[in-house]
Amino acid sequence: MVETTIGLDSFKNSEDNNEKEENNDSQPKKKEIKANELAKKQREISIAEFFEKNRHLLGFDNKRKALLTTIKEAVDNSLDACDESSILPELEIVITDMGNDRYRVSVEDNGPGIVKTQIPKIFAKRLYGSKFHSLKQNRGQQGIGISASVMYSQLTTGRAAKIISKIDPTVKAHYYELKIDTQKNKPEIIQDEEKDWSKDHGTRIELDLEGTYQKGPQSVDEYLKQTAIINPHVTIIYVNPKGEQIIFPRATDKLPFQPAEIKPHPYGVELGILIKMLNWTQTVTIKKFLTTEFSRVGGKTADEILEKAYIPPNTKPNKVSREMAEKIIEAIRNTKIMSPPSDCISPIGAELLEKGLKKEVNAEFYTSVSRPPEVYRGNPFIIEAALAYGGTLKADGGVNILRFANKVPLLYQQGSCAMTESISKTSWRSYGLSQSGNNIPQGPCMILIHIASVWVPFTSEAKEAIAHYPEIIKEIKLALQELGRNLYKYVAKKRNVHEELKKRSYIEKYIPSIAEALKELIKYSDVEEKNVVELLEEMFEKHRGQIDNMDFDESKNEEYDEEFAKIGREEEEPNDDEYKEVKDE
Ligand SMILES: Nc1ncnc2c1ncn2[C@@H]1O[C@H](COP(=O)(O)OP(=O)(O)O)[C@@H](O)[C@H]1O
Ligand SMILES: [Mg+2]
Repeated sequence: MVETTIGLDSFKNSEDNNEKEENNDSQPKKKEIKANELAKKQREISIAEFFEKNRHLLGFDNKRKALLTTIKEAVDNSLDACDESSILPELEIVITDMGNDRYRVSVEDNGPGIVKTQIPKIFAKRLYGSKFHSLKQNRGQQGIGISASVMYSQLTTGRAAKIISKIDPTVKAHYYELKIDTQKNKPEIIQDEEKDWSKDHGTRIELDLEGTYQKGPQSVDEYLKQTAIINPHVTIIYVNPKGEQIIFPRATDKLPFQPAEIKPHPYGVELGILIKMLNWTQTVTIKKFLTTEFSRVGGKTADEILEKAYIPPNTKPNKVSREMAEKIIEAIRNTKIMSPPSDCISPIGAELLEKGLKKEVNAEFYTSVSRPPEVYRGNPFIIEAALAYGGTLKADGGVNILRFANKVPLLYQQGSCAMTESISKTSWRSYGLSQSGNNIPQGPCMILIHIASVWVPFTSEAKEAIAHYPEIIKEIKLALQELGRNLYKYVAKKRNVHEELKKRSYIEKYIPSIAEALKELIKYSDVEEKNVVELLEEMFEKHRGQIDNMDFDESKNEEYDEEFAKIGREEEEPNDDEYKEVKDE
């Protein structure tokens, strides 16, 4: 009671205080009225309304980013759907400039298509998807991706989303025009009809939205290029608003490894989740619950956990109290349980990663690593990294960083990403790059990092940066140290060769002088002088041995594609405030 008074008082102005002194009785009555008034205003907030107001949380904070996010959400979904159905993806993306900062975006895939009844829910209902409840390596997670783009389009242009999807060559395609009823978080169907579509199967989405198209490092062009680097099995045909068609043909016909879905690992489970799982489970004993609902828990491990928690193995899961659940969590922590299986992760592989980097930069030295699986909060993950050094890379300024999560390029929030932190906290000076304190190292270098996981911990729903889990930072640092050691070997060898060449040229310069001096001293003939020169040169070569040519040879990297590398690089004159944010990052 006292607390409430203090709380209310703190909102009062001095006039109210005077009133309080004059009439103390009115205090409780006034509070009641206030509470009733407040009650009238209190109502449920739909998730759609929440994100309508907080669209920046989903990556729609400025017009340039909004265009990129829309493309990204649709592309992520198309690639996920194709990968899950073992289809080699072929995407057609067109962005048309409609004038007045409006763009029409269409993304078409050759994926499995979407069942008719699901289409309205997927595109016009927030938090609806197939990936949230599974622990599987996917590009999407939360089930808010594509409906966020639909909402942004509706908000900025008032237009409906147009979707066509077909699941089989023998049936007709379903065409929908949809809007979101944000108050009810429900789809509003504007049009629904069957259509002929020449495709065997696939999905096409078309959205009108307010945006800005600008080339450069955070552009749609750059995003699609990096998508092609990290997904060599994908073909993308892209027409940008300038009418330029860019084709990224697939580099391999081999489908990526199909990751398995896993159950949660006991080390990652928190008390609240365990209680929820105990309520939901279909299993009839606590022992069966542990062995069925978790990965890596066999009969013996379950017995060990239950013994430590003093719980009989045949206890019914719904009879497990909060205190008992707490004991189970503690017992899990004190039991040695095998790490989760790694077949739930589909890494790219060191070789393909390096190949991708070779396509992007013409450097003199490349190295790559794919680490063994590790675990954060019970979730398995793999870190892969590659590094390019020298050649055409610029020597001044910080090293270039390419970040990827589950095969999706991350173009924003570099400064707040665990990957960047790991780079800064690695001591690069011992590997031959200059670095001041815990800053990004400087030098002609590009570093690529990829995290693959059943659940990537992003810092926000916009999925732009990786959260700072110590286990993840440690793994990235281990990968970087391995690259660093390889880099050091190269840089040291280059330095040695350079010094050796200097010495050689110095000695070589003096050989004729020595022969000339001998000629004068011992009165050698011209022939003998020539012989001395040859002999000395021969001795010199024999003892010194061959040295590698370490000059940069531009034509050595056969993977390098100059036209490809240029995409996303051409920067245009900034013409609005949005560019400031891009530069600030
Ligand atoms: N192009 C597509 N082809 C097949 N299924 C799709 C496609 N786009 C979306 N889906 C389905 O719709 C669901 C919701 O997509 P989305 O809102 O982006 O959430 P998320 O990708 O996080 O699950 C996906 O989980 C997927 O099952
Ligand atoms: Mg998605």
